[in-house]
Amino acid sequence: MKFFLKAWVCLFLFCILLVILAMYSVSNVNEIDSVVDHKSLMSLQFLWSNITMKRDFQILNDGKYVYTLDLRQYREEFPYLQDYKCNKVSEPKNLCTRSAGFVNLILAIKSYPGSFDRRHALRKTWAQPQVIEDFLINPVFLMATTSNHTEMILVEKEMLKYQDIILWDFMESHANLSLKELCFLEWMIHCPSCDDDEFVYPPAIVKFLKRTPDASSFIHGNLRVHTEVLRKGKYRISYQLYSMDVLPTFVSGAGFIIPGILIPSLYRAATVLPVFPLDDVYFGFLAIKANINLKHGHGFYCWGLKFDACKYRNALLVHSLFEYDEKGMSPEQLLDVWEKVITKQNCTD
Ligand SMILES: *[C@@H]1O[C@H](CO)[C@@H](O)[C@H](O)[C@H]1NC(C)=O
Ligand SMILES: *[C@@H]1O[C@H](CO)[C@@H](O)[C@H](O)[C@H]1NC(C)=O
Ligand SMILES: *[C@@H]1O[C@H](CO)[C@@H](O)[C@H](O)[C@H]1NC(C)=O
Repeated sequence: MKFFLKAWVCLFLFCILLVILAMYSVSNVNEIDSVVDHKSLMSLQFLWSNITMKRDFQILNDGKYVYTLDLRQYREEFPYLQDYKCNKVSEPKNLCTRSAGFVNLILAIKSYPGSFDRRHALRKTWAQPQVIEDFLINPVFLMATTSNHTEMILVEKEMLKYQDIILWDFMESHANLSLKELCFLEWMIHCPSCDDDEFVYPPAIVKFLKRTPDASSFIHGNLRVHTEVLRKGKYRISYQLYSMDVLPTFVSGAGFIIPGILIPSLYRAATVLPVFPLDDVYFGFLAIKANINLKHGHGFYCWGLKFDACKYRNALLVHSLFEYDEKGMSPEQLLDVWEKVITKQNCTD
């Protein structure tokens, strides 16, 4: 518990639409440690300012299965994913600022340019900059571009106004979501600092981090253990691309928490692994390559949780008001739930 105060942790949440990424400092650190920490981080950044992607044929082993990722096949089906170089059009100012004694928690939320009303609802509810105990909480929306010029003009205004959007120049699409993970890792490397239809309760996240002493050595989330590969539909993966019947274990739905100190090794993994066209699975592969263990955390209700204000107060995130509902919450539901949760009293916990 004592080593919680000066390193970075990221909380990444993604159900169908959400990524929360929290960066926070951990450790029992006194000022001296934190200075050292910062310095080594600076030199890492320096080293990485020149890193190039060297993607290649990869064989990964998670102790149970061996996965072969043949770059040629990935190039054939998803050339853009393999060759894209992250190019930011815009990013918020000041998100990288550190404050002594505080833990930075960045909530990274995957959003689409057209989801104006969702972002609006989030900014009024859980995605607002705030301080909870010794945690500085800052939301950031991860977005790419669309061909709708009107939308992009509105997004530009929104960026200037709220300073909470990172925009990259690739086109939004389902497969391209993996690029958000990749580019976000890259952004984190250079800045030591969810989909948008979910309910997230920041105080519960802070509580979770405080009572989980090993939070900085694992990626916590809703574990999906060796699930079956789908050959049809939106999550379809071709047999040529990936011939195994099972996927690697990954954290999904509910989202996950990444300690900032693990970001460099994840990013290093991203420089050599082919980019898998399903973002959460892609992250699973990165974790294997980086030799990072995934751990199940309670409180990630990816598949929904029937509304109960007290239960919601202890949830890290909830995707829907109903169990097994893929649709997620509407902006109206979010506002309503938020109001009820923050005003709820007399919960036993
Ligand atoms: C990056 O690479 C270029 C060309 O190889 C080199 O000139 C430059 O000094 C490098 N910069 C850093 C920060 O390593
Ligand atoms: C572009 O976006 C605006 C705002 O979201 C929407 O009203 C309009 O229908 C869109 N245009 C096209 C061609 O999709
Ligand atoms: C991903 O983005 C690129 C660049 O914007 C675009 O050319 C490509 O069509 C997108 N991929 C998909 C599957 O839409």
